[in-house]
Amino acid sequence: MAERFYITTPIYYVNDVPHIGHAYTTLACDVMARFHRLNGDEVLFLTGTDEHGQKVEKAAAAAGEPPQTFVDGVSQNFRALAKAMKYSNDDFIRTTEPRHIEASQALWKAIEASGNIYLGGYEGWYSVRDEAFYAEDELVAGPGGKKRAPTGADVEWVKEPSYFFKLSAWQDRLLEFYEKNPQAVQPDSRRNEVISFVAGGLRDLSISRTSFTWGIPVPDAPGHIMYVWLDALANYLTEIGYPGGKDGKFARFWPADVHVVGKDILRFHAVYWPAFLMAAGLEPPRRVFAHGWWTVEGEKMSKSLGNVVDPHEMIERYGLDPFRYFLLREVPFGNDGDFSQAALIQRINSDLANDLGNLFQRSLSMIQSYFAGVLPKPAQFSDADRLLIEQATKLHPSVGAAIGRQALHEALGEIWRVVADANRYVDGERPWTVRKTDSVRAGTVLYVLAETVRHIALLLQPFMPDSAARMLDQLAVPVDARTFAYCGVRGQLVSGVQLPKPEGIFPRYVVEEKGAA
Ligand code: MSP
Repeated sequence: MAERFYITTPIYYVNDVPHIGHAYTTLACDVMARFHRLNGDEVLFLTGTDEHGQKVEKAAAAAGEPPQTFVDGVSQNFRALAKAMKYSNDDFIRTTEPRHIEASQALWKAIEASGNIYLGGYEGWYSVRDEAFYAEDELVAGPGGKKRAPTGADVEWVKEPSYFFKLSAWQDRLLEFYEKNPQAVQPDSRRNEVISFVAGGLRDLSISRTSFTWGIPVPDAPGHIMYVWLDALANYLTEIGYPGGKDGKFARFWPADVHVVGKDILRFHAVYWPAFLMAAGLEPPRRVFAHGWWTVEGEKMSKSLGNVVDPHEMIERYGLDPFRYFLLREVPFGNDGDFSQAALIQRINSDLANDLGNLFQRSLSMIQSYFAGVLPKPAQFSDADRLLIEQATKLHPSVGAAIGRQALHEALGEIWRVVADANRYVDGERPWTVRKTDSVRAGTVLYVLAETVRHIALLLQPFMPDSAARMLDQLAVPVDARTFAYCGVRGQLVSGVQLPKPEGIFPRYVVEEKGAA
């Protein structure tokens, strides 16, 4: 049954050039969005840039540019990344756009009308890097005994008039919300962290700033701009036309199905955001899923260490699809992971070239050489034939179930289990020998392989769109028979079809010897 599916990425700060951490969050969302589209669902997949706040203002000043000129430029880097990674996002939100300013101010007014905002003064610690307020007891000692945020970021003492959100009043309702909706914050380990943070007591939250101006004006409060996180979180409402309008799109798409975020920004999404929404009379998102962080060859990625991995460079060197595959296969989604090119090369050569590439290439090459590329007609299926086709046919539900849990690595694991089954099957059936005495049996085996590979290619589309399309081209699967509606009997390959000459899709990556000419 077709459903609607609304998925979002965090919107990225434009103070930085995009790296693999940013590429990763959006990639995961892209895979889920593509999966749901192929399922026939009505999908809305959003990403964008977070362009206000002190951090961006400072980055603009450091670049010697007015903030708007600066953000116009840097925002393009994220659009370029989206293009290079072939993300299928339906829109790209920028928080400096009028439509977003309108939505954020409407959200403010709705929260204010509920009596959850009051004017006070903030005096305390603030980290510009994290764009977050910290209580004294949250701070840790940095080098030289200097106070630091728990994230390691510098903090500064700020004192300014500020509007507050009555977060403290939301503790019980938040706990009740987590209790009633165990899927609303995932994975479970993160959910437990959030619950214990909230159970530990909540302080009211400063939600406006007066000491700088790069932000969205608070309605009817000259001198105040909105706290950048309230502004940024509101982006999830912007595109769907909050507070009204846009042909009922808001009513149709809210609440969002999944906000995918990194673990570092879970508190904003799983505590502040549901509280803001409930205060404004809106439903909280159905799920916030926090993924882990990438280190690079064991170290934290940072400009100062000079180890920031540029996704464009990886795409150029290894190809887009192998890079996409690696990021999602190497590490269980939700866990931290380590990025290394050696591990990437290993995955390319073993999973892609050896396992998948070989299976595909040898199946199609045999059809080409023994049957002149004409897909053979199967005779009676053996138990082994039936079993393999059954495994392949079960991929759609099992991959779907894994994706529904954001277990993207498990979804790939399911596919590779069938790749391994099919490789074992072909080794056991030995069509290259059988064909000498029993061409009909060899033809049946090759048909079973082609049909298995068709399922594999269909399910790979969300992960490796270009490679999967090439696989389906080589299987002569019509373009309009590539949705998941064709995962069953309906899409079965038709014998007698002429297949094009097969070409390798997953080449090995050959590491050149140092000093070789
Ligand atoms: N602007 C805020 C989000 C506002 S959403 C309403 C922000 N931006 S960010 O650019 O700093 O981070 C965006 C995403 O990139 C986060 O989900 C963060 O976890 C992710 N990553 C940044 N570095 C990362 C790694 N090294 N590894 C994995 N993901 C990381 O926060």
